[in-house]
Amino acid sequence: MRGVIESPHAMEKVGSRPADTGAPWSVPLSDVTSDPEIEAALFETIRSGWWSSGPRVLEFEAAFARMCGSREAIAVANGTAALHLALLAIGCGPGDEVILPSLNFVAGANMIGLVGATPVFCDIGSVDDLTIDPADIEAAVTPHTKAIMVMHYGGHPCGMEAILEIASRHRIAVIEDAAHAPGATLAGRACGTFGDIGCFSFFSNKNLPVGEGGMVVTDDEELAGRLRLLRSHGMTTLTWDRHKGHAGSYDVLLQGLNYRMDDPHAAIGVVQLRRLAAWNAARARITSIYREHLHGFGGIRMPFPQRNHEMPAYHLAVILLPHGSSRSEFRERLASDRIQTSVHYPPTHMFTWYRTQPSHRRLSVTESVADRLVTLPLYPAMENAAVSRVIEATQRALGERVGGDPRIDRAR
Ligand SMILES: Cc1ncc(COP(=O)(O)O)c(C=O)c1O
Repeated sequence: MRGVIESPHAMEKVGSRPADTGAPWSVPLSDVTSDPEIEAALFETIRSGWWSSGPRVLEFEAAFARMCGSREAIAVANGTAALHLALLAIGCGPGDEVILPSLNFVAGANMIGLVGATPVFCDIGSVDDLTIDPADIEAAVTPHTKAIMVMHYGGHPCGMEAILEIASRHRIAVIEDAAHAPGATLAGRACGTFGDIGCFSFFSNKNLPVGEGGMVVTDDEELAGRLRLLRSHGMTTLTWDRHKGHAGSYDVLLQGLNYRMDDPHAAIGVVQLRRLAAWNAARARITSIYREHLHGFGGIRMPFPQRNHEMPAYHLAVILLPHGSSRSEFRERLASDRIQTSVHYPPTHMFTWYRTQPSHRRLSVTESVADRLVTLPLYPAMENAAVSRVIEATQRALGERVGGDPRIDRAR
């Protein structure tokens, strides 16, 4: 898969992608690796004859719940499905508002809209903390607020203590979009387990890649029951239960979807989960090398300085170019060195659909970083030589005047 994983969220086209020459990226944005253990698990599942949701899904759910320390884990088709199910499970619908950060993948806002509710976008904390600002959440709460959907940007935990305090004071639900954060902890507790429901993605560029997949975790057994029903047409039993003779028939208790994960994906997930901690540690090491060489160089800033009491999942290596620099020129220069970059994210509130909604408002910190964010390559198997190439190319590009103010950004 080397070089073919372009983030589904990259909006800024870089014209000189080496596709012109047919050559792959020399350093892709993200990468997956296969090995005999993954291949054996996959082939064993295929040979078993059970290809839909069955024993491997149950095994993956149990292992993921153990890793997180959550009571329940429900495997689903992808991270977007996880967010959709979470909103349906808490009864979110028309007339409700859900608060979320604009600096985010669009899945959360789209799912809020699709259940008939209104997304209310909030600002990020600062140039150093690109997660949602609790003070802006407080300002956005209204009598219609049903939930806060936080997102642990780049695998860095949000300020959950303040967020949970606001949620409990106003009696609103908390959904954690932990797509970037499997294995991340805050004060020893796993991201995804602070709120009512945590949602994960196992898309190929994520920390725990299976291809397409997701997981929903919760400690609330009633919510878990509803999530399971919603995942599979509201049916009281799965095909696997009937195959095992655990049930002869089924009833339908509510209107649901087919958001099930299948066993081949779960089989990959079981193996990947065993590697997650080592992979996150590799991501942490590479990120610290980037920080050492790039933070402060030519006015570059690297958000998320190390904070006590947290272990991020280091999903993304994001830098902030100096004010006034040309991001597209910077990215072109790296692309001409066959280094792939991306942007996480074009702010959701600035997309045409959301900009033209009545609830639109300006978000000053998000907008001040929006045109300067660049995501550099980061994946666990990244070799030191590749990290050095990215650092040198970044320094060269900044040195060769893609413009901008070389003083380090002192914004809040
Ligand atoms: C923050 C965030 N939320 C949700 C999703 C949706 O996950 P998926 O692509 O598995 O549907 C993604 C990833 O793609 C994401 O990055």
